[in-house]
Amino acid sequence: MRFRFGCVLFLLVCLLNLPAASAQQVAATPPMGWNSWNHFAEKVNDAVVRAAADALVSSGMRDAGYVYVNIDDTWEGKRDEKGFIHSNEKFPDMKALADYVHSKGLKLGIYSSPGPKTCAGFEGSYGHEEQDAQTYAAWGIDYLKYDMCSLGEILAKNGGKAEFRQGMLDAYKKMHAALLKTGRPIVFSLCQYGLYKVWQWGPEVGGNLWRTTGDINDNYARMAEIGFGQAGLAKYAAPGHWNDPDMLEVGNGGMKPDEYRTHMSLWAILAAPLLAGNDLSKMTPETVAILTNREVIAIDQDKAGKQGDRFWAEGPDEIWVKPLADGSKAVALFNRLDEWAGPAMMKVNFRDLGFTGAAKVRDVWNAKDLGSLEKYEVEVPAHGVVLLRVK
Ligand code: GLA
Repeated sequence: MRFRFGCVLFLLVCLLNLPAASAQQVAATPPMGWNSWNHFAEKVNDAVVRAAADALVSSGMRDAGYVYVNIDDTWEGKRDEKGFIHSNEKFPDMKALADYVHSKGLKLGIYSSPGPKTCAGFEGSYGHEEQDAQTYAAWGIDYLKYDMCSLGEILAKNGGKAEFRQGMLDAYKKMHAALLKTGRPIVFSLCQYGLYKVWQWGPEVGGNLWRTTGDINDNYARMAEIGFGQAGLAKYAAPGHWNDPDMLEVGNGGMKPDEYRTHMSLWAILAAPLLAGNDLSKMTPETVAILTNREVIAIDQDKAGKQGDRFWAEGPDEIWVKPLADGSKAVALFNRLDEWAGPAMMKVNFRDLGFTGAAKVRDVWNAKDLGSLEKYEVEVPAHGVVLLRVK
């Protein structure tokens, strides 16, 4: 009897504790850092990554929480006769690069695909999952973005929808098991563009974050399509498991400051991973200010780990709300109308948000306490935002 009780206890510990512990060991809050793709794409190399690491430190971004330095696609070289992957000529020594990044108090991320080829046509991990995980761990990698790419073609040939879905889950599970086996904590980032409602099964395959959509672009229309399109996904986010509406475009030049503030505010409300995607070595003070605003980051990184959601919408005016650990709420008023239409007057009644009596209200981007209010009416610029923290 005692033996059986022991078994049950052991199983319970395994079932309840282990997966939770491994997920929360990393990504207890949405991962923050930088990724090479949005700005550098195939032009990423060792020097670019070192410069990004240097800039994370000198700009104050590291101290604001941006710690992952993530190399995206196009680092991959050939496999040797034993099947081990090597980096290509752009990355002469991955271990030395990891040591450099680590010496700055940062972490290094890498990219691969469960298919034979990555999206840019480089070597994927198909059939080499364990070897690749071992290689990453030996280099000192802390984060893996695993991008479906060519696996889709294989799965599409091999059966119907159910087989496709299962094949995808199996492929992600396989790499997750390989990563766990290394014993190194490695954030596991799923990238399969939101297919088959990944938010419903992302945690089951070991994902710490999962892309919910196709790729972002550096323009308001695409950013807004993705960001506002996250409505309804809040319940799937939790410490260790995040919806990922793709990397930031802040500072890449295609949007106006109001639009980048909308981008950053929306991602913070969504408890989205904050992976800067710009050239960190050439930032305007305004870009640095948007990326490093501590109060906005605090909303994103709030330890309750609750994703916000759309609270109200009337045409192009939307109010989104995120509950925070100290009982406050982050409240974002967005005006989605184009510039020709001008600013919008927007109103929020704090009673509707569950506050009784007057609430203490702070305008986050203007770093200004607005006092104790029952409601607030404010002009919101076209494509812009007013972000409030209400207690
Ligand atoms: C896909 C991903 C992008 C990027 C590229 C690299 O498009 O969604 O984020 O990683 O592949 O080839």
